[in-house]
Amino acid sequence: MEIISIINQKGGVGKTTTVINLAAGLSQQDKKILVIDLDPQGNATTGLGLSNVEESSNTVYGALNGTKEIFEVIKNTKFKNLDIITSNVDLSGLEVETADDANRAFILKAKLTAYLNSSKGFYDYVLIDCPPSLSLLTVMALVASNSLLVPLQTEFFALEGLTQLMKTIERIKISLNPDLGIRGILLTMYDKRNKLSSQVEKEARDYFNKKVYSTVIPRNVRLSEAPSHGMPVLIYDKSCPGSKSYFNFTDEFINQETTMGSAA
Ligand SMILES: Nc1ncnc2c1ncn2[C@@H]1O[C@H](COP(=O)(O)OP(=O)(O)O)[C@@H](O)[C@H]1O
Ligand SMILES: [Mg+2]
Repeated sequence: MEIISIINQKGGVGKTTTVINLAAGLSQQDKKILVIDLDPQGNATTGLGLSNVEESSNTVYGALNGTKEIFEVIKNTKFKNLDIITSNVDLSGLEVETADDANRAFILKAKLTAYLNSSKGFYDYVLIDCPPSLSLLTVMALVASNSLLVPLQTEFFALEGLTQLMKTIERIKISLNPDLGIRGILLTMYDKRNKLSSQVEKEARDYFNKKVYSTVIPRNVRLSEAPSHGMPVLIYDKSCPGSKSYFNFTDEFINQETTMGSAA
């Protein structure tokens, strides 16, 4: 079971869209997926067809505040092989509520480790949808993860934010999670008519080389329509350009797995 955080402290860069559609793509290839919605906005929750106004003890908040175990808060989605731990707005209170707990950065890791060791954990991948900040919730995700996936919107300032993120990741590696790896950077909302998109792509590839996935996610309106129907775009409209790109990305992600495995 590999735990992967989809992270970028900027909002609106395609984290949730990537979580939902990578989860859908992998589940269609018979991988068992658990999505953890770690954003109080609950966009991954509603985007996968569940409610984000649920009793909060049944959400990720219930597990993180100690009242529930992971297996008690997992819910099925209506999609095969795809389960979720939902979130709601109460999650935003966790930072203040745990202020006295010196080990709070490890709460999610401890819960997931207990779940794994209980042999109830049968997922191939756990995908964590991070909030748009470098707050406690994001630190919890970084501590609990084996690797990271960073969506990068191909627009001005995107790379500036990335430098700050990389510094945070380095700090977490040194102090809290030495084994944390970066799976890759995924370029999102690419607009081929806009010169800036190709410029940002070039800069990202020059600087981060092979860490940047060759699949690029185009700007596509179908991707922004799908969440309001509570489903991944891969199911909402499987032949639109957005879907094609996320299918390609899923393949690249799985092949990367094989490459990583054979290199070891
Ligand atoms: N490639 C894309 N093309 C068009 N709209 C997109 C694309 N990716 C995401 N969106 C839309 O942009 C908004 C922000 O995306 P989202 O995935 O929620 O970002 P984040 O989780 O990083 O805040 C959402 O309304 C989403 O539907
Ligand atoms: Mg989001």
